[in-house]
Amino acid sequence: MHIAIIGTGYVGLVTGACFAEFGVFVTCVDKDEDKIEKLKKGIIPFYEPGLDEIVKRNLKENRLKFTTRIDEAVNESLVIFIAVGTPPRGDGSANLEYVEEVAKEIAKNMNSYKVIVTKSTVPVGTGFKIKEIIKKNLEKPVNFDIVSNPEFLREGSAVEDFMRPNRVVIGAESDQAVAIMKDLYRPLYLIETPFVITNIATAELIKYATNSFLATKISFINEISALCELVGADVNTVAKAMGLDGRIGPKFLHAGIGFGGSCLPKDTMALLKIAEEKGIRLRIVKAAVEVNQWQRERLISKIIEAFNSNIEGKVIGILGLSFKPNTDDIREAPALSIIQSLLNKKAMIKVYDPQAMENTKKVFPNIIYCSDAYSVAEGADALVVVTEWNQFRNLDLEKVKKIMRGSLFFDFRNIYDPLKVRQLGFEYFSVGRP
Ligand code: UDX
Repeated sequence: MHIAIIGTGYVGLVTGACFAEFGVFVTCVDKDEDKIEKLKKGIIPFYEPGLDEIVKRNLKENRLKFTTRIDEAVNESLVIFIAVGTPPRGDGSANLEYVEEVAKEIAKNMNSYKVIVTKSTVPVGTGFKIKEIIKKNLEKPVNFDIVSNPEFLREGSAVEDFMRPNRVVIGAESDQAVAIMKDLYRPLYLIETPFVITNIATAELIKYATNSFLATKISFINEISALCELVGADVNTVAKAMGLDGRIGPKFLHAGIGFGGSCLPKDTMALLKIAEEKGIRLRIVKAAVEVNQWQRERLISKIIEAFNSNIEGKVIGILGLSFKPNTDDIREAPALSIIQSLLNKKAMIKVYDPQAMENTKKVFPNIIYCSDAYSVAEGADALVVVTEWNQFRNLDLEKVKKIMRGSLFFDFRNIYDPLKVRQLGFEYFSVGRP
């Protein structure tokens, strides 16, 4: 089977490369010529473990190709995935400009029956909008089907998530489209992946409901972490015991500085907007968003208060910039808010991240970028763990203590044992632990 993926961003590229790995012939399209030229040589514009290898192998074996020609890609493909960006507008709603533009281009180039699939996270109702756009812009009378097939890839483990998903969601209106989609995902049948076959609106909503629920779990435990601090309880143990209840489950109950990234912040806001347009307020999702902001501010205040609000000229070392480990993505990353707040108060900032420093330099060109965690610690008055990269979990804290000027240690991901760190003479702050 031949398929086309329009948009070689994060979702598009992972999807395209992984389908090629399944043995499908994939054409990835993007209007960014420079990006396409690089991709043709196997150069990937972001860091994602395992992706590089798959792209290179499938390029070599001619199952994966990159082009700027949407017309050719549409012509030769049975299934066309729309995987372009849906960036948030000022009011939080998703901007569908690119999706709509692509739908028009697809329509103009349709020569036979096609299945047009939205992979981008789009508001409920977009599938039908695309259908209308395509109908209006068709140059010949050809049949087509619209499908919603949301992605649930996590950055840092996207390839693994694609190859071994918890479920595949297919929202469609015709049996023919469902059969084609099932055929495309056939390798996943062998590993008994559950398939949820439903209508388009349901599939579209599943994505938002899932991400908003995950955000709610995180905000819930973060709110409990604040209470833990006041009553002398340990949030890690609370979360662990809660998670042992099969009805709750252990995942996404890790207290910390809150969620960032390209999905959770954007999708919660977009869901609120969708609901608002339909005339209802989603109070729980709203609270999850508010608590996330509150937790960030609360933890940033801890740093400032530890210096009695006088942080001018103090050297603060930041460990971790990406919104989570194993990615170079800094979108909505808590580290950015911390750095900005501390710079506002005239602190000096030193940072290190294994992957995200280049991206951060574009936002903060004038802070100090170090080559490892120890150079960050050198001469620092305080050290702040913001992203739980594995290499930060086992630092030689004795050495860190010796080379620091001060002794403040903020562990905003709860990766250290409070007792052990305090024994070394640090003034240790974590999230929701005595
Ligand atoms: C998320 C969804 O998990 C994925 O299914 C969807 O397709 C895209 O959005 P991603 O944004 O890559 O994936 O990251 P995820 O692992 O979900 O983490 C999101 C944020 O929540 C991170 O900032 C992380 O640090 C934070 N988090 C996660 C917590 O603070 N506590 C937790 O227990 C889990």
